[in-house]
Amino acid sequence: MKIQAINGFKDILPDNAGLWRRVEQLARNIFDRFGLREIRMPILEKTELFTRSIGAATDVVEKEMYTFADKGITMRPEATASIMRAFIEHGLHVRQPVQRLYTIGPMFRHERPQKGRLRQFHQLNAEVIGAAEPHVDAELIAMGRMLLDELDLQASLELNSLGCPACRPPFKTDLIHYLEQRLEGLCSDCQRRTHTNPMRVLDCKKTSCRQLVLEAPSMLTALCADCDEHFQAVQGALRNLDITFRLNPFMVRGLDYYTRTTFEFLTTDLGAQAAVGAGGRYDGLIEQLGGPSLGGIGFAMGLERLVLLLEQRDHSEHLGADTTDFALVSLGTTIDAVSLLAHHLRRQGCRAAIDYSGRSLKAQLKQADRARARFALIIGDDEWTRGEAVLRNMRTQQQQPFPLSGSPEQQSQRLAELLRSQPD
Ligand code: HAM
Repeated sequence: MKIQAINGFKDILPDNAGLWRRVEQLARNIFDRFGLREIRMPILEKTELFTRSIGAATDVVEKEMYTFADKGITMRPEATASIMRAFIEHGLHVRQPVQRLYTIGPMFRHERPQKGRLRQFHQLNAEVIGAAEPHVDAELIAMGRMLLDELDLQASLELNSLGCPACRPPFKTDLIHYLEQRLEGLCSDCQRRTHTNPMRVLDCKKTSCRQLVLEAPSMLTALCADCDEHFQAVQGALRNLDITFRLNPFMVRGLDYYTRTTFEFLTTDLGAQAAVGAGGRYDGLIEQLGGPSLGGIGFAMGLERLVLLLEQRDHSEHLGADTTDFALVSLGTTIDAVSLLAHHLRRQGCRAAIDYSGRSLKAQLKQADRARARFALIIGDDEWTRGEAVLRNMRTQQQQPFPLSGSPEQQSQRLAELLRSQPD
């Protein structure tokens, strides 16, 4: 029987990998403009890291983690907790009090797979640790917006504040009181959440629950003076950067570590999976994990979702680019000379392809075309004897002689110069 990939785990095939690279490169470039530096962490962490940060009563920890129970380790479902673990473990703040970090890589959650939702998915993850100023929140959100803009993707921005340990507990008590009186109208998940994680009820997608929470107490009117001032300043700083947003007091996020500012970038083009990116502030998290009393804010964007949006917008974009500069066509006995020339071309930084099959000229040119080669260089026995190859421009179909004079290295230099002199 054929062995296939696991449900929810997907291959990224070569035709598609270029688009992935483009998004990743642009993200790195933008992160660099904002002064973020890359950090890479292991995929496996102690399970306790996630239960203590994401929260034991969240969907992610309750039902979605890939855990090796006998070893007490888990495949990371997100990157923020791991970054904080590394930050604390290496005392990063000692050398540089404000750490601006990013990481790109796979995450694992055992969710029901559907369009834009996988069990192994990839995130672009950005964090600014050690700065509590509202302008930092706005700058980070603006960075996410810049990435979407430069990818030419439309997404709306929703903003909320989840308060702090001073104002959230009394709000939660009020909310529980409100929900308890309407328990029968809630879905079974929300009936349970009313006592385990009442804020999540505000975020339930079921119509009956959405209807019921419309009149529920709002965190935005329950913020303490400090949180309110912070949130107003974040909004002001966003307006200053010309970033439009909509307040959504029902957005609570699925991870427990958030405080104050939270936000989501939403699209209407991915069916049920509306969030292309999301994040927020987590001011108590580092201390909770045994580190210094420093806050932070960050976000993550789903790479699969970004790539899907780009593909939907332009089906052929990722197929458009040339993949080879020179396809070398050898006919007859010239294969050693041709492979040596290909080797030198690659040393010159050119992309060279070579067909070792000795197939007909027609078949090899067809293959060069399929590989979207810029030029074909034909060196059969006749050309070799004459000391003159045929250089065919695959775009214009025009052919010109190419003298095989000088050493293979010199020939490759002339070909590389010729390539550089061509318009893109
Ligand atoms: P999150 O909302 O769980 O936040 O995930 C962020 C983004 O990852 C989502 O908006 C979505 O684009 C993508 N994503 C999540 N789950 C899946 C999935 N199963 N399949 C495909 N894409 C998915 C976090 O993970 C936080 N760590 C973000 C953060 C960073 N907060 C502060 N710093």
